[in-house]
Amino acid sequence: MSDQPQNRRGRKGPPCPDRVNVLLVGGGGREHALAWRLAQSPHLGDLFVTHADNPGLAALGRPCTAPTEARETWRLVKWCDQHRIDLVVVGPEGPLADGMADALATDRRLVFGVGKAAAQIESNKAWAKQLMRSSSVPTAEARIFSNYEQAVQYLQSREEMPVIKASGLAAGKGVVVPDTLDEAVEALGQIMKQRIFGAAGETVVIEERLTGPEVSIFALVDGRTIYMLEPCQDHKRLLEGDEGPNTGGMGAYSPVPWLDNDMLGRVEHEVLVPTVDALVREEIEYRGVLYAGLMITPAGPKVIEFNCRFGDPECQALMARLKSDALEALWATASGRLDEIEMRWDERSACVVVMAAPGYPGTPRKGLPITGLDEAAALDDVMIFHAGTKRDGGAVVTAGGRVLGVTALGASLSEARQRALGACDLIHFEGAQMRRDIGACTAALR
Ligand code: AMP
Ligand code: GLY
Repeated sequence: MSDQPQNRRGRKGPPCPDRVNVLLVGGGGREHALAWRLAQSPHLGDLFVTHADNPGLAALGRPCTAPTEARETWRLVKWCDQHRIDLVVVGPEGPLADGMADALATDRRLVFGVGKAAAQIESNKAWAKQLMRSSSVPTAEARIFSNYEQAVQYLQSREEMPVIKASGLAAGKGVVVPDTLDEAVEALGQIMKQRIFGAAGETVVIEERLTGPEVSIFALVDGRTIYMLEPCQDHKRLLEGDEGPNTGGMGAYSPVPWLDNDMLGRVEHEVLVPTVDALVREEIEYRGVLYAGLMITPAGPKVIEFNCRFGDPECQALMARLKSDALEALWATASGRLDEIEMRWDERSACVVVMAAPGYPGTPRKGLPITGLDEAAALDDVMIFHAGTKRDGGAVVTAGGRVLGVTALGASLSEARQRALGACDLIHFEGAQMRRDIGACTAALR
């Protein structure tokens, strides 16, 4: 664990200054949405972004020229010193798991994003499982294996098909939900022997298969105080009706009409509070986002996974609905002052429809010209967040799997969805993949 000043347990940082210079790390739709809200803050001084190749980010911030790889962190530290960065906001899990927050935090510079020890809640599923067990957080029953033969034996001894998870970070791809024993054994071989996810597959978690609708709950945590944000649901499957392969997320919406306040209270008291208490007991300072991926089972909420960052595209829906100052909230989290703020939300629904490149979630086709962006962005209550795009001469072209997060607000979820779809219909690139049933398919209404 780091002994950086920010990470000394329980210590408060300074209140939010009038002018805050921010470095935003990350280059997807989540970061574009964060940058868009940060840019509206009266506290914002200079905004720098690590991924100015994303045209959405380039329009809002100046490029940070330092490398962000873990082995060159010292260069980033120097760059932050030179540019008088007051707050670093880290979007993705990779840099957090590599210890970026530990390296960049000083007495004068805060980091929104957890340190390496806390990031284990996402980067080490076996560790997270034990943390949940030790604090009686409801989650799928699981066994942890580092030995392939023992894992196979266990699989063969089970009556029901379990879920198999690589313990480490696998870019959202390390989970297999097999239908047959053969499929399960093959998946184990690929993860543990062929190492298709590299070292992430040294250890696997084999867990009970749960049923029920899924929901993403986000909380800001400043070490002690937990501030639960509005609930979201994302749709991970590629195709309408929740069919097809898993993706990083093909769309999201917020709030979640079928999740009532009683259930949210249970999530807070059964999941979030005991988890943060367990982290405190382990002497791990958690300052950032705690993302609980939950299944609402007949027995109540159960944790499928924890992440140490905002979900993407969920963050786009959240930022669309956030009415109060995002910078103040992120600062309060990083400085241990969450008890001093109130966040306000638009009562309306937000719906994000992801437009993905042909080939996604396999190898996406890059360089396809995108048209209609300006027309779509000009619609009322529509925001177009860039996820995998770049500029090529005068054109904006595809540059990744998930290309755009087309986000809209509406008086009802169905109005928000219709508005987002209307915007999608104005945007064109060859072979675009999208779902027209975000927030409307059976999984959402079950
Ligand atoms: P994850 O990457 O952990 O969010 O898992 C990807 C998807 O696999 C989830 O969105 C679920 O649909 C499914 N999944 C993960 N764990 C379980 C489980 N224990 N039971 C049933 N489905 C699961
Ligand atoms: N949308 C799911 C995730 O960000 O992990």
